[in-house]
Amino acid sequence: STNTVKKIACIGAGYVGGPSMAVIALQCPNIEVVVLDINEERIKAWNSDKLPIYEPGLEEVVFAARGRNLFFSTDTTKHLGEADVIFVSVNTPTKMSGIGAGRAADLTYWEGAARMIAAVSKSSKIVVEKSTVPVKTAEAIAKVLTRNCVDPNVKFEILSNPEFLAEGTAISDLTKPDRVLIGGQETPTGRAALEKLKWVYAHWVPDNRILMTNLWSAELAKLTANAMLAQRISSVNAISALCEATGADVSQVSYAIGMDSRIGPKFLQASVGFGGSCFQKDILNLCYVCESVGLKEVSDYWYTVVAMNDYQKQRFVERVISGMFNTVAGKRIAIFGFAFKKDTGDTRETPAIDVCRGLLADGAKCAVYDPQVAPIQMFRDLSAPKYAWDRPHGWTKSENHIMESVQAVSDPYSCAAGSHAICVLTEWDEFKGLDYAKMYDSMVKPAFVFDGRNILDHDALRKIGFVVYALGKPL
Ligand code: NAD
Ligand code: UGA
Repeated sequence: STNTVKKIACIGAGYVGGPSMAVIALQCPNIEVVVLDINEERIKAWNSDKLPIYEPGLEEVVFAARGRNLFFSTDTTKHLGEADVIFVSVNTPTKMSGIGAGRAADLTYWEGAARMIAAVSKSSKIVVEKSTVPVKTAEAIAKVLTRNCVDPNVKFEILSNPEFLAEGTAISDLTKPDRVLIGGQETPTGRAALEKLKWVYAHWVPDNRILMTNLWSAELAKLTANAMLAQRISSVNAISALCEATGADVSQVSYAIGMDSRIGPKFLQASVGFGGSCFQKDILNLCYVCESVGLKEVSDYWYTVVAMNDYQKQRFVERVISGMFNTVAGKRIAIFGFAFKKDTGDTRETPAIDVCRGLLADGAKCAVYDPQVAPIQMFRDLSAPKYAWDRPHGWTKSENHIMESVQAVSDPYSCAAGSHAICVLTEWDEFKGLDYAKMYDSMVKPAFVFDGRNILDHDALRKIGFVVYALGKPL
């Protein structure tokens, strides 16, 4: 058929590029899929037995397809030159300096990728935006591509195909997606490109789950989906504060409202705050786009979702400190979980960073246990300068102070031993099955539990003797 795609290349071998291309390769054995990165270490890891990211089910998929039709490489010139479809899944972080710092998306990596494509293309290409980008990015990318390509016969068709996977469930999200969204230009060549990419997904995704829209709708739908998801969490977290003040129980409130089919039960779990590389950055990006087109009220509206999240993290720190007689100075506090959610080792924007910083700023000593996060990563996160702009962080201590006041511990029992309190910051399943009576015996009394995820059995803990604080629950 005219739709046949023979070779796919992907720029960016990260959390999105790696798993999404591995699933395409597994499902489409006749397409050669090459994942490229400028980071040699990362490519080396993708080619080894120890993959660079932890994701349930990822190894099985990669090991089945790697070497057959899935390859990881740094040879961008060769593979971009040969590919007929090029996915771009480079990082698009928040801009750290200059105009729009702290809000706008930094498209440096994206532009670099586009220039690379233009420089090596000797045949026409479909370029697919997989990264999350501000609406209208395709227009800018098209200019970079066409004005830098030396061969006038080479044509570029740009599609937007945002990724909706969540970390920790990436493989099942990719294998059974709620929908695959593809946006393209409403021209004959645009429609032909849409059909080609649709053909790739149709290998395993049912027809009625492949959605085709115009370019700008696809770009904006991605930002909107993340903003709406984060909004649910900030809404329920706001209510958790009210629950604590009134004696309502946030789990009961969530359950009751979730039974309304118009609201639905998912994503209503109160927490110490949402983290991850995307929610905050994408909302800030959305706010910036709104401001750029003169929609200040719309921008202000969405910004409150981020502000509420900062409040929730701060509120948790204050609750720990006030609960422990207004001082944590010199006290050892066991931090259970550092990743931004369970089943991932990713710590980008994890609420644990802000909570630990808040406790450290008050003089606490933090002992941190996480089953997937390497100690070096914890120290890196805690000592990195937070923001170059004006959002509150309350952090002025030196890197030395971090090294002295933070201890990474390799098992939960030695983490708790000698501590005054346990703070649960990630909802790892293994935290539910631990022997808390044993821990209690090894802790300083009164021993506290601050459950920032509401995953533990609070009544059982109180029976053991713990003083328990749980989010949005009566004390
Ligand atoms: P990541 O940082 O894990 O991976 C990006 C990779 O791109 C890095 O390995 C980097 O070295 C590489 N890179 C940057 N510039 C390059 C270039 N010019 N040539 C080759 N490689 C280059 O990021 P990620 O988490 O995979 O996110 C990628 C994009 O996908 C972001 O826009 C993000 O918003 C979006 N997204 C992420 C998730 C998620 O769960 N992490 C989900 C959906 C969408
Ligand atoms: C999120 C979206 O769910 C994905 O659809 C999207 O593709 C992705 O962002 C992205 O664009 O990067 P992810 O950040 O990996 O995925 O994980 P989520 O499951 O959404 O969790 C985000 C944060 O919200 C976590 O810190 C989690 O603990 C928190 N959360 C989630 C809550 O506090 N309460 C909930 O009810 C749900």
